[in-house]
Amino acid sequence: MNILMVTSETVPFSKSGGLADVVGALSSALAGEGHFVKVFMPMYSFIEEKGFKKSASFSVPMISSEEKVETVEKKLGKVIYVGLKHPYFTDRKGIYGDTSFTPYADNCPRFMLFAKAVGLYMKATGFDADCVHCHDWTAGLVPYYLKAQKIKAKTMFTIHNLAYQGDFSVYDALLSGDVLSDKLFTGPVDSKRLNMLKAGLDTSDIITTVSPTYAIEIQGEEFGCGLDWLLRARKDDLYGIINGIDYKEWNPGSDVYFEEHFNSRSLNGKAQLKAKVQKEFGLEVREDVPLFSMISRLAEQKGFGELLLSGSTSALERILSENDVQFIVVGTGDQRYVDKLNELQAKYPNLSVRIVFSNKIAHMVEGASDFFLMPSRYEPCGLNQLYSEHYGTLPIAHKTGGLADTIQDINEKELKGTGFLFSAMHPDDIVKACDRAIDFYKNKEALKRARKLAMTMDFTWNKSASEYEKLYNKLAQGKNGGNK
Ligand code: GLC
Repeated sequence: MNILMVTSETVPFSKSGGLADVVGALSSALAGEGHFVKVFMPMYSFIEEKGFKKSASFSVPMISSEEKVETVEKKLGKVIYVGLKHPYFTDRKGIYGDTSFTPYADNCPRFMLFAKAVGLYMKATGFDADCVHCHDWTAGLVPYYLKAQKIKAKTMFTIHNLAYQGDFSVYDALLSGDVLSDKLFTGPVDSKRLNMLKAGLDTSDIITTVSPTYAIEIQGEEFGCGLDWLLRARKDDLYGIINGIDYKEWNPGSDVYFEEHFNSRSLNGKAQLKAKVQKEFGLEVREDVPLFSMISRLAEQKGFGELLLSGSTSALERILSENDVQFIVVGTGDQRYVDKLNELQAKYPNLSVRIVFSNKIAHMVEGASDFFLMPSRYEPCGLNQLYSEHYGTLPIAHKTGGLADTIQDINEKELKGTGFLFSAMHPDDIVKACDRAIDFYKNKEALKRARKLAMTMDFTWNKSASEYEKLYNKLAQGKNGGNK
């Protein structure tokens, strides 16, 4: 089958979050199964052009100009990456903004041009895709434009995070120069807004999201981000497929970022790595103390409000002051969380904070820790809990989205489970779940068993890729009702 992925980011060329990992890994898994896979992406200034060859040049009509663009292609493994060159991308330092907190003012025309270019590229090169698989709001207008351009390919739209919608004013919408269908807008006629994510949901043939639980949650008001009504209306075309992880990059037995390798049968390396990380993070080197960690964007979605800022004594402060534990927090994000973490670090020698985004640190800390805390308010899939389990680091997480689907709550009596889940998103529940973990840590045999179970769970891409394959087949045979 010919598959064209459309995304604003993909490893190994561009990345701001999990989306990039998923598109990169899914594409290679599908190509490995014998499909012909191309990934259509913007060619940002930071992508090295070496090895890319020019494949097409054409123009994209916008309101007051014909914008000249070029595509360049490079084969990596079995996947062909197609970069779209236009100053909107080639002249920019960032993906969505110079930093992730300052979006570019012209993101609307940037991703309009990107979406329109997909079909024009297919026409210019004669690429006949069976399925055009669009990811998140930046590719939301693609199914609409393909139909307008009379391209027959079926379309799939994957939601990686419903909260980011690409919401713009009607004046921004005019910049396309096209008369746009109402399906692309939200709100009443006199105050309607262009919403690129909604456009993708309303005009694609099939919708997926990155876990079965999130697929259900987003049909309700609490997690529906204002679009639950539409997801309910399209529930027969909505599927949840859990993400896999890249076992080559994330393998405790051969991780390139540390030498203290280990596996489910021999955990000596994990203990050595723990000592090394304790030392590097300025913590006391002790094997008997449970080491907790978090590696995360410091954002509200990730539960930092409940962890750091609610109540007179925050949940994290209670955990640090009432127990013999150590805690590492790594990440960048909101200043209010950074400030609070720094304040706690100054007060508690058992807390070590690093305001950085570093692959190396992420691998080392995942490997060294005993427990990994993920109190996300919502989590479409989440990748860190999968890395943790694979590294024998038991996750402690809010029972939501992909976290609920990939962590089996530990049953202390029956000695089953791979982590600790809590249901209510409340500081007390975070503290209680950590208390459970601290108690559990004392039972060395149970700990060993849970680690082994976690490490041997199957998070490879094979299973997920074959679920996507089934849906592509369904689309090709026209079995889903479609959304014509
Ligand atoms: C987004 C979601 C995350 C998911 C990732 C990849 O970043 O927030 O839960 O794992 O996309 O699908």
